[in-house]
Formats: sequence, structure tokens, C-alpha cells
Amino acid sequence: MSTPPVRKEVLIVEDDAKVRSALREVFLSDGYQCRVASNGREGLESFERERPPLTLTDIKMPVMDGLDFLRRARTLDSDAAVIVITGVGDIKTAIESLKCGAYDFITKPVNVEAVLIAAERALERRQLLMERREYHAMLERRVGEATRDLAAALNELEDTYRATLEALGSALDTRDVGTHAHSRRVVGYSLTLARTHGLPDSQFRDIEHGVLLHDIGKIGIPDGILLKPGPLSSDEWKIMRTHPDLGRRLVERIPFLRGAVPIVYHHHERWDGTGYPLGLRGEMIPLGARIFAVADAFDAMTFDRPYSVAISFDAARKEIARCAGTHFDPNVVENFLKIPLELLETIRNGSVEWSQAAPKGPAAREH
Ligand SMILES: [Fe+2]
Repeated sequence: MSTPPVRKEVLIVEDDAKVRSALREVFLSDGYQCRVASNGREGLESFERERPPLTLTDIKMPVMDGLDFLRRARTLDSDAAVIVITGVGDIKTAIESLKCGAYDFITKPVNVEAVLIAAERALERRQLLMERREYHAMLERRVGEATRDLAAALNELEDTYRATLEALGSALDTRDVGTHAHSRRVVGYSLTLARTHGLPDSQFRDIEHGVLLHDIGKIGIPDGILLKPGPLSSDEWKIMRTHPDLGRRLVERIPFLRGAVPIVYHHHERWDGTGYPLGLRGEMIPLGARIFAVADAFDAMTFDRPYSVAISFDAARKEIARCAGTHFDPNVVENFLKIPLELLETIRNGSVEWSQAAPKGPAAREH
């Protein structure tokens, strides 16, 4: 605590010279430094200059009375410890002075012992109030610092999560579609489409996680099926189609990633209800999954795959428009078609914040 120790200094504001002098003697004899003033105005000038920790003031004085002095002194220094001296029986004034912030009042004729006790008590109270305020300020500073540290730690944690998920997404891409940048591009298309569709930024994190992890369930699909060069048998398809559910079960166990479940679980649903795993129809399909479906199809069409070469952006957009209402949500498609071609190019080339470098590479068939 850095509150300075109490200064034994007192300002005596009293128009009666005898009383003033007597009070001065009392305080001097008790080790106080004393300043005196003969009315409120003089007292206020001295107060403003010296800021004494303690002031004794008479009430009835010429020029400026004690209550006026008290109010002004408290305005200058809200910690000012002021004791008022009132006449016997003047309880009304004493109460008024306490309302104005006086620490205490003593009555005339002044008793030496009483005035010194009141002075000591007033200084102690002032000190306590100052220490308490400083303590609160210190607590607020510490809370502020701790909040900033926590925010920085959370950011760092978030970055670490993000990097981990991106690495995982890349690993999944590399095993499956043969290029580590597929997920990054689809994140870029999906977030751009989500924004165009009017989704709030607060949902972007879940969408990004969902896109990066959409095929995580393929970890549970045997290589013999996942990487089979020829067409799959119907039994193999059955196994392949379990990957959204496998993914859901993996992801929903992690609270931080739970928001990704709708995309992971429903990314193969179709608007007309012919998709899987549940065959959901229309708006029963979570919006994130409907957005992902368009973004993913666009990337699949515009990037070379082992059995087909990439088609132009324009041709891909036409194909997506053709599938509106069957494969895709028509409203999502409508908004997708509003995204300028140049922006899609930029995302493809990895020049926007959520998209990393997108080296060209082969992609496997769409599952
Ligand atoms: Fe999939």
C-alpha cells in the first residue's frame, strides 16, 4: 500500500482570535504543524494552497461561513477531513455540517482532550478511506491486467486450436483427396458464402471447424474402400456412408468442437431429401451444411481430379445453379451466385485471410 503516512498538520479557521490562538496552542503542544485563518475565504485560500489533511472550522464567521468553507473544501479534496466547531445547542447546524461531509463536530467551549481525540479519529478515518480507495484501484488494475492476460492466453489457445485443426484438415485432405489445401479453400468459399447469406460473424468459427473436420469420420473407413480406384460395390458404399456418423461421434465428444457437428454430420444431405445419413429435406438440413455443400461442390468441380479435369468457374457456377432445388438450397445458391468471380479466384489462390496457399494437386472422386 503506497498511501503516504498521516501528516500531523491542521488548519484552524476561526474568526475569534482568542479561540484561534488557544486551539493553535493545543495542537502545537500535541506535535501538529498549524496554520490559521480568520474566516472561510482565508481558510479556503490556505486549504487550496496547502491541502492540510485536517481542518477545524468555526461555523459563524464573517466573509465566508464554516458550512460554505466546508462545501468548497470538500469539492477541492473529497478526502478533506474537516471538523466543525459549533455553539452549544446548535444541533441543527451540526447535522447540516455532517451532511455536507464534515467528519465530526465539537461544541464550544472547546475541551482540549475532546478536540485532540476528534482530530486523531478524523485523521485515522481519512487514512482508512484513502487506503481503501487505493486498494480498490489496485484491485481494479489487477483485474484489468488479469483480464488482458487471460484474453491474450485465450487468443493464443485459439490460435493453437486453429493450427491443430488446420493440420488435421490438411492431413485428412492428403489421405483422401490428395491435396492438403482442399479444406482451406472450402473454408474460404464457405465463410464468404456465409457472410453473403447474412450469417453473423459469431457463427464463423463453428462453420470453419465444421468445414475443416467434415470428413474426419473417414479416419474410420478402411483404405481399401477409401482409396479404391474403381467404383465401389453397394456394400462398400454402405461403409463409406457411415463416415458422417463416425465423424459426429468423434467431434461431439469435444466441447470446443461441438458447433462443428451439424456440418460434420449433415454434409452429405441434399435439399430434395435424397442425401444421407438421415435423408433430411429442405430447411431441416442445418444451414451450415447447406452452405458447405455448395462450397465443397464448387471446389470439387474447379480443381483437377484423377478422373476429370477442372471446369471453369463460370461452368461450375452454372452447374450449381442447375442443381438448386435438388441438390442445393436455392437461396444459398442465389447468394453464392452473387459472390464476384474475382473474389472466388482470390480464395482459390489463397490470398484471403482464411485461405492458405492452394497448390494445385489431384483430387479423388467425390464421396
Ligand atoms: Fe464426406
